[in-house]
Amino acid sequence: MNSSSARRMGSVRQALSWRGPVIVTLLAVREIMRPLLYWHVWHIFETDISHQIPQPYGKEEAEVKFYTADEGLEALCQQISAMGELEPTEVSRRFAKGWLIAVAFLKAQPVGYMWLVLSGGMELAFDTYWIIRSGEALRYGSFVLPAFRGKGIHSILNHAVACYLREHNFHVTLASVSVLNPQSMSLARHNKRAIAMTVFIARIRGVNWTIRKSFGAPLQSRFSWRTE
Ligand SMILES: CC(C)(COP(=O)(O)OP(=O)(O)OC[C@H]1O[C@@H](n2cnc3c(N)ncnc32)[C@H](O)[C@@H]1OP(=O)(O)O)[C@@H](O)C(=O)NCCC(=O)NCCS
Repeated sequence: MNSSSARRMGSVRQALSWRGPVIVTLLAVREIMRPLLYWHVWHIFETDISHQIPQPYGKEEAEVKFYTADEGLEALCQQISAMGELEPTEVSRRFAKGWLIAVAFLKAQPVGYMWLVLSGGMELAFDTYWIIRSGEALRYGSFVLPAFRGKGIHSILNHAVACYLREHNFHVTLASVSVLNPQSMSLARHNKRAIAMTVFIARIRGVNWTIRKSFGAPLQSRFSWRTE
């Protein structure tokens, strides 16, 4: 098995063990139907950080550092990639797009990270793009090493990210959480975040037809797409 298949299998195994039989069945049906139809359902969160910042509930004292594409990146790309989720080329690609990364360290060991996207052009799925306005930042692709999950490391990252963004004159953070990912859904519950909208996007292959629906707010208030 090559390294990217091994990475994929590892994260699939981890995810399945936390998702329960209903979600695992839904995920399996979605994979079987992939050649014909693929779909996503996300809750979209918009958090005003100008007055209040979500508090961390981490059980460890993690230190969070921020890196941009300007820093000596080769060693960092290797370090992030060695955590097992992303290939070095994908890490470089994200930096090349101008994204930032917040990395949590425990006793100098990187244990988790969160990406930050500060401008538009970011795809949610199937040619549907985030509208990211001035003063807004998208939190994306959070990851904590499996051995360190369940200790609130993500909440420490989240808190540090909100403080960093506020210092840099950002006032809203955005995020999408798949409804099929209970680990991530629990993060929003911990912070009692309200769902800004729920988005359903499906693509019917062959005819290349995309269905987009939102609940709770108009889709075009946060996403753009080309009319087909
Ligand atoms: C989602 C993720 C970043 C959460 O990080 P974390 O630091 O473990 O977050 P928390 O400690 O707050 O735990 C969140 C939930 O994970 C689950 N969890 C608890 N212990 C766990 C463990 N040992 N292993 C895996 N998941 C665990 C629980 O559902 C927990 O919710 P709870 O606190 O209400 O019980 C992490 O699970 C992860 O990297 N998952 C894989 C990538 C992913 O799904 N990213 C999200 C993209 S939006």
